[in-house]
Amino acid sequence: MDKKLLISSETIKKRVNELATQISLDYEGRNPVLIGVLKGVVFFLADLARELNIPVEIDFVRAASYGAGTTSSRNVRLTKDIENSVHGKPVILVEDIVDTGLTLTHIIQEIEKKGPESVKICALIEKLEIEDIKIPIDYCGFRIKEGFIIGYGLDFDEKYRNLPDLYVLR
Ligand code: IMP
Repeated sequence: MDKKLLISSETIKKRVNELATQISLDYEGRNPVLIGVLKGVVFFLADLARELNIPVEIDFVRAASYGAGTTSSRNVRLTKDIENSVHGKPVILVEDIVDTGLTLTHIIQEIEKKGPESVKICALIEKLEIEDIKIPIDYCGFRIKEGFIIGYGLDFDEKYRNLPDLYVLR
């Protein structure tokens, strides 16, 4: 598989640190629930959470999409729900990569039903090739124009998640 280095682990670390600093400031004195979207988010969430200097809860959801390929005709359902209560609590949804935003839209709807105090979005990568993304991302690591990205949790056919850097497949 031919791959090109996109973002090095050093650059990721620096950016994750910046995001954590901003989140720690914004949530000072509060205890947000970080909800990670499995599986791609594992390394990002682990690194981000350890850079925060506020107390947080950590939980996970897993979403499966099925239907016609990568278009908005896909359906999304949760195959794993959160286990902690988020009622009345501030929630930060942590996602690896937002492409069409379909996955995130569905997850937000499911979380909103549980009565959180607020829901904000933190994504490592926002893809810019889809122009009609309507989801505002509150904390965004990198905005990337094109290509299929692997590494730092992101997979191609379940492989390459353990690469420390981010690559684009060629
Ligand atoms: P969306 O629903 O179109 O926003 O797709 C989001 C999900 O698709 C992500 O959580 C990833 O699992 C997957 N995905 C989208 N683009 C990429 C990519 O470039 N590399 C790896 N996974 C991707």
